[in-house]
Amino acid sequence: MAASIVKRVSRVKKLNISHISARYKLLTGFRHFSTSKQWNKALVLGVYENESTDSIDFTGTARKFDEKADGKISQLLLTVKKPLKCGKTRTLHAVDPEFSSVLVTCIGKRGEGYDELETVDKGRESIRAAVAKAVLQLRELGENEIEVDSCGDTEASAEGCHLALFSYDDLKAEKSRKPAVRISCATRYSQDKNSMEKEWRKGAILAEGQNLSRRLMEMPANLLTPTKFAEIVKEQLADKCEVLVRDKDWAESMKMGSFLSVARGSVEPPVFLEIEYKGRQSDSPLALVGKGVTFDTGGISIKPSQGMDAMRGDMGGAACVAGSLLSVSKLQLPVHVKAFIPLCENMPSGSATKPGDVVTAMNGKTIQVDNTDAEGRLILADALCYSEQFNPSLILDMATLTGAIDVALGAGAAGVFTNSENMWNKLQKASVRSGDRVWRMPLFNHYTKKITECQLADLNNIGGSRSGGACTAAAFLKEFVNNKNWLHLDIAGVMSNSGDVAYLGKGMSGRPTRTVIEFINLMSKETNN
Ligand code: BES
Ligand code: ZN
Ligand code: ZN
Repeated sequence: MAASIVKRVSRVKKLNISHISARYKLLTGFRHFSTSKQWNKALVLGVYENESTDSIDFTGTARKFDEKADGKISQLLLTVKKPLKCGKTRTLHAVDPEFSSVLVTCIGKRGEGYDELETVDKGRESIRAAVAKAVLQLRELGENEIEVDSCGDTEASAEGCHLALFSYDDLKAEKSRKPAVRISCATRYSQDKNSMEKEWRKGAILAEGQNLSRRLMEMPANLLTPTKFAEIVKEQLADKCEVLVRDKDWAESMKMGSFLSVARGSVEPPVFLEIEYKGRQSDSPLALVGKGVTFDTGGISIKPSQGMDAMRGDMGGAACVAGSLLSVSKLQLPVHVKAFIPLCENMPSGSATKPGDVVTAMNGKTIQVDNTDAEGRLILADALCYSEQFNPSLILDMATLTGAIDVALGAGAAGVFTNSENMWNKLQKASVRSGDRVWRMPLFNHYTKKITECQLADLNNIGGSRSGGACTAAAFLKEFVNNKNWLHLDIAGVMSNSGDVAYLGKGMSGRPTRTVIEFINLMSKETNN
């Protein structure tokens, strides 16, 4: 031990003293930042949970780095008695001249995988959380270039880093923004660098899709109007997808009376987005539909003011569709996808829909709007009808639809309503990989009865009582779908993260974007979508 301490001191001596003083000034509050790359570079290494107090169970990569540092990393870790537990970290300095910090993060027990009760791959989740914590701690230390251990699952490691480093601070002054950090995968000791780089890129793209969803959801509604949403999506996707921006006249010509009844209370014009990604020729695309209410006041059935700001995220379904398409197209998945996004604001005004008004959807069904706050189902009704015109092999819709799904599942999982056992199995499989869970909910006739018992029209837009609110909303949507492979994801409960998901910061979550990308990936392998 004494020898290694001596060694450490001599290595510190080798470092340029001006860097040290610049760094010292930084740590003590002076705003002088060393531009030396050498001093800003950090390394994240993984270790498995291990009861032993005299050995460290390194990942393959970490072991090599320890060897490179003459065993100094393990020696330093073993200087304290308590072994590292899952989710805990130790930060070491001056152990390797290449890195100013080496952060060791514990990724849980070796060999952990699928957990049946949790319906999640625990190994992958632990890696995401462990590297997320690591890169955030290093950013706090001012490190701006971080090399990260693949931890035995390169894709999960990349996801964890890229999701953790996301922050929406575009509207803040420069000095209050989180500093930019460059991350890369520690591939130097890999047998197959190319495939590791490929996996890393895939994880980064998955995270990038979710981060686009988060950004769109977090943006304030005065900036992210339906028109602006369409502009951003065009900007993000135009080189890989065809993006059609339909206006109010178009929606009128399509007889989308249900969608337009929501938009009419606002001065912001509605937009209907139609996006196509053709990674393969096919006559039966996979259809995605997303609720795009850029702000939901509740309309005339106005919401209480407390917490209403969160309703800027009521276009979460639309955002997840856009985020998924970004990743699917960047990954160049061999699949044909068509997406349909009705966008509008739900506002109270002299021109707004009134409780008891009757509107007519695209398929001719009449709807009594007893509660103008149940607007998501109204805009989705027309979007679902329209999507049916393209002979889709499946329809997957996502919507921050009901507070009731939050009561039922909280942020634990997105609620899934589907008429297909096969689709359910595929989606669940995708969610086990992504760690962003789903939970199946019923589409019983019991709920359909609640919305078809209606005084003035074919359907009522609410179920009459609060009971089973997420299920009556799904039963309502079912009236507008004929497809045998339909999945409705109620994502209101997972809309925002208040600390439950360790690798997502607080705020709008962008969930379940990665599950949907993975689902599309599975579908691209299975059928002729
Ligand atoms: N956008 C809300 C649902 C919501 C609630 C999303 C919480 C995210 C977080 C939706 O439009 C709504 O207001 N639904 C009503 C339906 C009710 C009037 C039948 C609800 O859930 O209260
Ligand atoms: Zn509402
Ligand atoms: Zn809403």
